[in-house]
Amino acid sequence: MLKTDYLVIGSGIAGLTYALRVAHAAKDKKVTIVTKSERSESNTKYAQGGIATVYDEDIDSFEQHIEDTLIAGDGLCDEAVVRMVVEEGPARLQELIDWGVQFDENNIGDFDLGKEGGHSQNRILHHKDITGFEIERALLVMVDKSSNIEVLEKHYAIDFITEHHVKSGPTLRKTPITCFGAYVLDKEANKVKTIVSKLTLIASGGSGQAYTTTTNPLIATGDGIGMAYRAKAEVEDVEFIQFHPTALYQLPQESPAFLISEAVRGFGARLRTANGEFFMRKYDEREELASRDIVARAIDTELKTSGDNYVFLDCTQLNYEEFKKHFPNILEKCAGLGIDIRKKWIPVVTAAHYICGGVKVDMDGKTSIKNLYACGECTSTGLHGANRLASNSLLEALVYSQKCYLSSVASIDAIQFNDAVPEWDSTNTSQNKENILITHGRASVQKIMSDYVGIVRSNRRLKSAEKRLNFIYEETEELYKESILSVELCELRNLITTAYLICEFSMKRKENKGGFYNKDFAESKS
Ligand code: FAD
Ligand code: SIN
Repeated sequence: MLKTDYLVIGSGIAGLTYALRVAHAAKDKKVTIVTKSERSESNTKYAQGGIATVYDEDIDSFEQHIEDTLIAGDGLCDEAVVRMVVEEGPARLQELIDWGVQFDENNIGDFDLGKEGGHSQNRILHHKDITGFEIERALLVMVDKSSNIEVLEKHYAIDFITEHHVKSGPTLRKTPITCFGAYVLDKEANKVKTIVSKLTLIASGGSGQAYTTTTNPLIATGDGIGMAYRAKAEVEDVEFIQFHPTALYQLPQESPAFLISEAVRGFGARLRTANGEFFMRKYDEREELASRDIVARAIDTELKTSGDNYVFLDCTQLNYEEFKKHFPNILEKCAGLGIDIRKKWIPVVTAAHYICGGVKVDMDGKTSIKNLYACGECTSTGLHGANRLASNSLLEALVYSQKCYLSSVASIDAIQFNDAVPEWDSTNTSQNKENILITHGRASVQKIMSDYVGIVRSNRRLKSAEKRLNFIYEETEELYKESILSVELCELRNLITTAYLICEFSMKRKENKGGFYNKDFAESKS
C-alpha cells in the first residue's frame, strides 16, 4: 500500500499543471502522478494548432472570445464558465511561459497569433505545428525539478477506491460517496497497487479510441469516464463528440490518424471535392473557417453524395516558405507520402477528435464524489456546450487546473488518510487465454460507434448500436470476473462504458445542437 497526499491520474497538460501547482504550494506534501504509458504520451503531446487566448487587447477582446465560444457551443455553454475561462486565460498562459513553454513570435517580436474555425480574430498562440509536444517537454522538465513529485510510468488506474471497497459500518454507508485513492496496475510488475490519497485528480484525457478513425492516440480510451461512472459520479454531455474535419487520409489506415491542423485552413488552405469544386460556401458564409461541427458535417455530406472516400485540402496557392515555417511537421508527413503540397492536394477525412462532455465538475473542478477532482478533456465544465471552439481545450485544462489547485490546497489539511482501505482482491481469477475476445471487442466497439454513432445519427442506428454494445458488454464482464487483470481488458471495459453512455445520452437528446446531429429530428422539422 502506498500513501500520497495528492494522487494525479494522467500526465497531459491537466495532470502536470495541477501537480506542479500543488507540489509548489507545500513542499512537505507528496504528489504522485500515475500514467499508463510513457510520461509524455497523451493527447496533449499531439496538439498542433495551439492555445486560444486574448493576448493583445488592441486587436482582440474578452467579449469577442466569449462570443465565439458561445456561438460554437450553440446555446448550450454555461456563460459564467465561459467568461471565467476566457478572462483567466492570459494569466494562466503567462504561467505556462514562466514554466518554459516557448511560443512562436513574428518578425517584430510579438506572439505570432494563428486563426482557426469559429474564431473572429487571430488569437492562437502556438509552437510551430507541435504546440502540445513543446508543452509536454517544458512541463516535464519542471516536474523533474520538483522533489515532491513522483511519476509512476506504465501505471494504469483501474478504479477509484470508495466506500464500496471499504468494509464500513452502517453510519459510514450513509455518508456521500468519498474517494480514498485508486487501485493501480503496475504494468511491468504485473501487480495491482493500492494507492491511498487524501485528494485525487482524474486527468485521464479523451476517448477518441471509441471510434475507428480518430486523431487520438491509443491511450485515449475513456478511462476517466468509465472509472467515474462505476464509482457513481455524475457524467454529462457525452453525446457531443467533436469530429475534426481534416485528418490525413491514408492507406493502410493509421491509428491515430495524422491531423492536418485547422490552423492550415486559418492560413488560407481550401477544401475541394475530387472534381475540384470548392464546396464550403454552400454550407456556411465563413466557408473553411466555419466552426468544426459545420465543416465536418459538410464534408460528410459531400462524401455521402459523391461516394468518394475523401475530399482534398488545397494548399497549392499558399506561400511555401511561410508554410514551411509554420507547419514543418505537417509538411514532413506529407512529403513522406509523396505529397508535394505545392503541386498536390492533401486527401483528408473527418475523424473523432474530442469529447465535449464527461465527468461533471463545478467551477472548482470538484466532481460529485467527495475528495475527487477532475480536470481536462475527461470533464464536462460547461465551457464547450454542444461544440468546442478550436484551441479552447488546452486553455480549459490550464484554467481548471488552477481552480482545482486552489480548492485542493484549501481543503487538504482537514482530510485524513483512510486506513481501512483493503488491498486489491484477485482471488478466483486466472490467466486469460482468450485475448482474441479483447482485441475483437475493441475493434467491434470502434466499428459500431463509427457506423452508427458518428457525425450523423438516427434513432434506429442508436438503438442498434446499443443492442450490439450490450452483447460485447456482457461477454467482457464475464471475462473480467474470471481473468487476471490486464490493461487491454480494463481499457475495453472503459471503451464499452463510454460508448454506451454516448449512445444513451444521444437517445435522450431530442434536438440537434452543435456537434450532435440526429437525422430523424432534422427530417421531422422540415
Ligand atoms: P491528455 O493530454 O490526453 O492526458 C491524459 C493522460 O492520462 C495521459 O498521460 C494518459 O496516458 C493518462 N491516462 C489515461 N487513462 C489512464 C489510466 N487509466 N491510468 C493512468 N493514466 C491514464 N486542443 C487545443 O486546445 N489546441 C490544439 O491545438 C489541439 N490540437 C489537438 C491535436 C490532436 C491531434 C489531438 C488528439 C487533440 C488536440 N487538442 C487540441 C485537444 C487537446 O490536445 C486535448 O483535449 C488536451 O490535450 C487534453 O489534455 P488532458 O491533460 O486532459 O489529457
Ligand atoms: C488543430 O490544430 O486543428 C486542433 C485544434 C484543436 O483541436 O483545438
